[in-house]
Amino acid sequence: PTGAERPRRWPCGGGCSVGHCHPLVVQAAHEQNQVLNTNSRYLHDNIVDYAQRLSETLPEKLCVFYFLNSGSEANDLALRLARQYTGHWDVVVLDHAYHGHLSSLIDISPYKFRGLDGQKEWVHVAPLPDTYRGPYREDHPNPAVAYASEVKRVVSSVQEKGRKIAAFFAESLPSVGGQIIPPAGYFPEVAEHVRRAGGVFVADEIQVGFGRVGKHFWAFQLQGEDFVPDIVTMGKSIGNGHPVACVATTQAVARAFEATGVEYFNTFGGSPVSCAVGLAVLDVLEKEQLQAHAACVGSFLMELLGQQKAKHPIIGDIRGVGLFVGVDLIKDKATRTPATEEADYLVSRLKENYILLSTDGPGRNVLKFKPPMCFSLDNAQHVVAKLDAILTDMEEKMRSCETLRLQPEAALLSPPLGECALLLVLGDPELGSLPSAVAPSFQTFCL
Ligand SMILES: Cc1ncc(COP(=O)(O)O)c(C=O)c1O
Repeated sequence: PTGAERPRRWPCGGGCSVGHCHPLVVQAAHEQNQVLNTNSRYLHDNIVDYAQRLSETLPEKLCVFYFLNSGSEANDLALRLARQYTGHWDVVVLDHAYHGHLSSLIDISPYKFRGLDGQKEWVHVAPLPDTYRGPYREDHPNPAVAYASEVKRVVSSVQEKGRKIAAFFAESLPSVGGQIIPPAGYFPEVAEHVRRAGGVFVADEIQVGFGRVGKHFWAFQLQGEDFVPDIVTMGKSIGNGHPVACVATTQAVARAFEATGVEYFNTFGGSPVSCAVGLAVLDVLEKEQLQAHAACVGSFLMELLGQQKAKHPIIGDIRGVGLFVGVDLIKDKATRTPATEEADYLVSRLKENYILLSTDGPGRNVLKFKPPMCFSLDNAQHVVAKLDAILTDMEEKMRSCETLRLQPEAALLSPPLGECALLLVLGDPELGSLPSAVAPSFQTFCL
């Protein structure tokens, strides 16, 4: 089916920004595949047209484009560009960030390196600009400046050790960090500190760019009209599932990279098919006005979730912009302790209802809403109604200390007696409750 006949398949998040198997994107790939697919050593109009179209979405300064196959390749190239341009080596990243799966990127991803080889001496971590759970919260008079001062502090301590900053890397909206919306003005302040130290600002837009935030095409633009990163990396959504990624940068950075005399070559990056797909995705975004759609459906979703916050005390915070929304689940309002097990439970129950959400953030307690941009008002209503029903049911179970277990053996685990704890019981909800000797003193629920 084409156009209006086509069912809007929205549950495929991640890379499919304009909807799973969009016919125009599929057709563009198919048509180009029938004509020519070769590597970028051979000139083809598609690559030039695609670079031209992308440049129309970006500030004028970001006018040089490198095409690649994945977000990781894009961030790895960004790292090389930054180091070549600055002549420096060290990198500052935000806590709990993820920038990709290559060795170089595991090194700059606290989300990964903490569970692997640990932090390298050239990597420096600044706090997430999280105004809900971080050191500077919603009651702080200027959290943007306060969090940027933390970066300045990190940069200074690096310099005191005789080291030099090549780059500050951040997702424009730290998603893996817990769907964080940095306070406006934070990036320009950070960029000032980083550039003063001779480094560059890299905005990772791989999850969050391409119209998703609604008001702007790129999420870094939320930080102020005048703010321009030195390097922007993009991927995932730009190919709607096809492996396309891109690095946009300035003439100055690109010229410094070229000056090595060592060419950048990537066999499949920027192939005529990949660029045809990229162009088709841009066409769909424009034709279906998906950026405006994301703004409209996103505000409606936030409004519906706001109603849920008033009803369910487990919802501590709802934050978002366009179709990038986080629901921060807490155990209690005073401490804002992450409700990790409850979030896990909710995600499983939603999955039973054919709704696929994941959790993010250091506490794995932030429900992550990042649907394809064709997600509709009806879809928003449907998801929130299911969420409401599950939360109501869960609260009822917790109030009555009712225990359901899914695996009989899980009930045999001996809980920490003598204190009231939340016991997570894995198994089949139909199998019945924990032994009455255990149930009264423990709030329990099933997964
Ligand atoms: C913020 C961010 N940067 C980079 C990457 C790496 O992209 P890829 O998986 O396409 O290599 C990801 C992937 O999840 C990501 O979320």
